[in-house]
Amino acid sequence: MTGFCRKMTVAAIMSLSLCGGAQAQSSPFTPEQINAGRENFGMYCAGCHGDNLTGGGEAPALTGGIFNHDWSNQSVGAFFAFISNAMPQGLEGALTPEEYASITAYIMAANGAKPGTAPFTGKSDIKISAIADGKLVSGVVSGK
Ligand code: HEC
Repeated sequence: MTGFCRKMTVAAIMSLSLCGGAQAQSSPFTPEQINAGRENFGMYCAGCHGDNLTGGGEAPALTGGIFNHDWSNQSVGAFFAFISNAMPQGLEGALTPEEYASITAYIMAANGAKPGTAPFTGKSDIKISAIADGKLVSGVVSGK
């Protein structure tokens, strides 16, 4: 792949869309997980982080510039590990791994990641910036 990309870089500006960019990487979660995550987020997270992830009070936004600044260089698995250990504040670690996985899928999708075919189990080295650009997708948030 490296050789291919190098050749393409020399050959054409097309290399940008072939070898980089969000579309190249498929996300490690399913549409079903996004839907479950929307419900779980509403129950366990929205009270502090807002229905549309924009934050409130002490709780930071989980989208946009803050999200990119804090998470774009980290992996999807690291995000899952963080929320599994540290959230919901006051009830840390209280949800099941499946619930945390679905919430991770939902937050990634709400930030622009497209679902794939493999369910997310909590482990993934995929860098968040490779799948999500931090721009809130209102259709994911509303479920419509
Ligand atoms: C009682 C309020 C409250 C609830 C409920 C809550 N959070 Fe938080 N959350 C906070 C506060 C306050 C912070 C900032 C301090 C910190 O990072 O611990 C935070 C930080 C975070 C961060 C880090 C944000 C960043 O940019 O570093 C993430 C991610 C997060 N919460 C996700 C969640 C998820 C997912 C849920 C639901 C499972 C949840 N939170 C529920 C209050 C809450």
